[in-house]
This record gives sequence, C-alpha cells and structure tokens, in this order.
Amino acid sequence: MKLAIIKLGGSVISDKRRPYSLKYELIREIGDVLRRSLDEWRLILVHGGGSFGHPKVKEIMDKNMTLKDMGWEVIRIMCDMSVKVTEALGRPFAPYSTPSLWSRGIIVEPLLEAINVDWVPVLQGNVVPPGIVISGDEIVKELALKLKPELVALATDVEGVYASWPPQGPPLKKASPCDVEAKGSQGIDVTGGMKKKLEEMNMVAKVTRVIVFNGLKPENYEKILKGKIVGTEIVPC
Ligand SMILES: Nc1ncnc2c1ncn2[C@@H]1O[C@H](COP(=O)(O)OP(=O)(O)OP(=O)(O)O)[C@@H](O)[C@H]1O
Ligand SMILES: [Mg+2]
Repeated sequence: MKLAIIKLGGSVISDKRRPYSLKYELIREIGDVLRRSLDEWRLILVHGGGSFGHPKVKEIMDKNMTLKDMGWEVIRIMCDMSVKVTEALGRPFAPYSTPSLWSRGIIVEPLLEAINVDWVPVLQGNVVPPGIVISGDEIVKELALKLKPELVALATDVEGVYASWPPQGPPLKKASPCDVEAKGSQGIDVTGGMKKKLEEMNMVAKVTRVIVFNGLKPENYEKILKGKIVGTEIVPC
C-alpha cells in the first residue's frame, strides 16, 4: 500500500491568534475524510504547535527561562494537544510522543509497526532534549527522507504558496523555495512560518511529491489523496 505523510498545520487545527484553542468540528471532519482513504493509503500524521506549542515556548522565553530548564512544560502541553486532536480525529488515530521517538533524529520502527496494523500514528511538533524545538515540518522532513513516501501533504491555513507575501493574485501551481518571497506566520510562531517550511521541504521535494494546500477545507484532503491538483506543488531549487 502507498504511504502518505500528512502534516496538519497548527494553523489549521487551532486558531494561532487564540492561545490553547482547537477547532474540534473541523478536526472531526478531517478524521472522517482521512479514514475513508485508509483502504488505499497508509498514513502517518504530524501536527504543528498551533496555539499550544508556540505560545508556551514564547511564554518561557519571555520569562527569560530556557527550554533546557522548562522544555518538559512544552512536552506536556503538546502531548495534551495530541490526545485532544486524536480523540477528535477518531478511530484509528493514536498520539505518538515525538520526544519518545527522537534520538538525534526520528526513530521510525515503532511508526512502521503501527501502520502495519492499520493504526495511524500522530506525532507533534515538540521539544526534545537538551531543549530544542523540533517543528512539525522538520519531523515531516525527517520522516520523508527515511521512509520515501509516495506523498507528503502539508495542510496549512492559506490556499498554497504565494510568490510574495502579502499575496497579490492566486497561489503558485509550482513553487521553488529559492524563488518565493515567504515570510513567517500571522499569529504567535516560533518555527519560522512559511519561509522555514519551504526551506525544510527543498530536500524532501527531491525524493517525493510535496504539496502545500488549504487544510481548512476537508474535501481538499480527499482530492489530494486521489491525485487531483490542489494548492501548490513544491519543486526543489
Ligand atoms: N509566500 C507565502 N505564501 C503563503 N503563506 C505565507 C507566505 N509567506 C508567509 N506566509 C504565512 O505563512 C503562514 C503559514 O505558516 P504557519 O507556520 O503559520 O502555519 P503552519 O505551519 O500550518 O502552523 P504550525 O507552525 O503551527 O504548524 C500563512 O498563514 C501566512 O501568514
Ligand atoms: Mg509553521
């Protein structure tokens, strides 16, 4: 069966302008759509920090404390977020704690064992020892380079990648990280928004198909998994 790695942007499943908020109804709908694809696809999901991880890291920084001392607080809140997200996604999505699967990179064997019994493991952007933020996008990159999936799909809160920001005109059909003028995020963000996302995806786009699309529309997940073109395809520099 084919493997897809899907990142649910924190910008999709939460409101990054409102700390500790989740869009439960939308997450349920996304769960329904993804579940229907499971006879054709094996899935590994990763979600971003959204309105959980980003403000918590900022809060720690603003108090002049370090993630070496306080990283466990971020881990707690991100694992809490993953439990809530997977409960809303429904069967057979399960939270997999990123720091438990990280030792100088992602440990993939437990994930492969999960997909072999038709579960969908869900990782999250998180903090790992000695107090480093690993974004959801970085996890996707690590997974993709190791597992070489058929598809990497990054759900975010815009229609795709625009040539410049703020956008003038429609999103690009194909975008090369070298040509795009991307910026950070609209809410609280500690992992570099679209700019960093594109940098992370450059290498991934050399080994697999990478799509950035609007994940606020549940039907888009189905379209992409059926091979239709939605959003922006990333092509390497
Ligand atoms: N050229 C660009 N094209 C599209 N979006 C851009 C561009 N430049 C900057 N952005 C910003 O990047 C944001 C998406 O990145 P952001 O990190 O906020 O989302 P995410 O990765 O889905 O969320 P999270 O980091 O919580 O997982 C958009 O909402 C937009 O504000
Ligand atoms: Mg981001």
